[in-house]
Formats: sequence, C-alpha cells, structure tokens
Amino acid sequence: MPFSELLVPIKSFLKCETPDEWVKEAIKPENFSMLLLDHLICELKASQSAMFLIRKYAVDKESGNALLEWLKPFEQYIYKREGNWRDLAAKNKLTKSVVPKSNSPYGQDLIDKMVLLIKEELHHFYQVLEMMDHYDVEYKSITPSRYAKGMLKHVKTHEPDTLIDKLICGAYIEARSCERFAKLAPHVDKRLGDFYISLLRSEARHYQDYLELAQSISPEDITEKVVCFGKVEADLISSPDADFKFHSGIPT
Ligand SMILES: [Fe+2]
Ligand SMILES: [Fe+2]
Repeated sequence: MPFSELLVPIKSFLKCETPDEWVKEAIKPENFSMLLLDHLICELKASQSAMFLIRKYAVDKESGNALLEWLKPFEQYIYKREGNWRDLAAKNKLTKSVVPKSNSPYGQDLIDKMVLLIKEELHHFYQVLEMMDHYDVEYKSITPSRYAKGMLKHVKTHEPDTLIDKLICGAYIEARSCERFAKLAPHVDKRLGDFYISLLRSEARHYQDYLELAQSISPEDITEKVVCFGKVEADLISSPDADFKFHSGIPT
C-alpha cells in the first residue's frame, strides 16, 4: 500500500492537520537537533508507556520483571548516560515469553500487541540514534513537551475507563506522529526523509492497535470518548506553543 493511502484513515481520525507554521519551524536548521532529540525521547516514551500498561494490567510478576530488564539498557543510556549506543541494537530482546496473570481480565491480545509495539519502538529508538550519529547530533537531555501531559490529564480515574482512555491517547499520539513524519519527509535531507517514510507503516499500525484494544476492552462504544480526546489533541496542535517540539502546537 502506498503511504498516501496509509494516511487516509489517519487524517480522518485526527481532528486537524499539522499547521504549516509548525512545518516551517521544524525544518529550520536551528531546530534540527531538537527535532531528532525529541523524536528519540518519544520512541523511548512510547515503549515505556506500552510497557507500563501491560505491567499494570496484564502480566504476571515474573513477566513484568523480564519486561523491565528488556528496557533497562535503553533507559540507562538516556537517564544515566551509561553504555555505548551501538550495543543497544543487540539488546532489543525479551528473554522470556510474557504470560497473563491469572486474575487479569485483559487477555493475551493486549500483551501480544504491546510486546510487538515495544520491540518496534525500541528499534526506532536505535534508528534515531543512528541518524543522530550520521548528522552529528549529540545526545543531551531535554524537557518534555506539553502534548502527552495535556491529553493524559483528561484520563478518567476509575477503571476500566483509565485504561481505555490511555489507549485512546496512545492512538492519538501514534496517529499524529505518523501524520507529522509524512509532512516532514519531503522537506528534509533524503536519508532522514526515507527514514520518516519507513516509520509510517508501523506507526499507522500502532494507532490501529491502540484503538482496537480500547474498543475491545470497553463495555460501551468508544466513539464519543474518541471524539472527546480528538478535540483535546487538535487543540494542543492548533493553539500557540512557545516550546518547539515534535508534537508542539503553533510556534509563537
Ligand atoms: Fe515509533
Ligand atoms: Fe509507534
């Protein structure tokens, strides 16, 4: 499937398109390293939040520990600056099969989709490090953008709504990332543009997976909830935002 077709459901899911002002800001040479650094952190965050969900809701203790071990070298590289980034490619593996805890109402489907997603996000993380190496962008820590927090503050505090809302937020983050990669690709260096295009397919599937999981877990139709988060997301994207990041709003 050509990527323009892949974007059709994503564009109708998102309540607004990325404003041109953001694209203009993003392709300024002075924002190049911020864009890559924030992208790197987004890939790690994506794997962390998927892992958090299955550890909290679905897996037994032993599987939970194996999951944490898997993520450890990646987190240590970012938070403690430990290890060599090139060694991380070989560390993207889970050492045991992940099984549901006996009293979990959420099944193997949640686990399987999230484990695959984590694996892919960690692979993307490594690929961004390769890009940073290629373009000579050095890793440094940055502050998080308002985007994810801005959506997560609308998550309900009772179950199963908490889980369902978080899955819907996950769907929006993935869909927006996918849309922005497609927007940026024609304007950046070919190597980076090809990388962005290569990410579209998995991010498009991630958005679908999150949405399907949310509906399968919810006892009710989730359409209204999706519309609600869609408005919040569109507002974060189309309102002024002084802090330029991968998911930021209109630059001021
Ligand atoms: Fe990713
Ligand atoms: Fe993703």
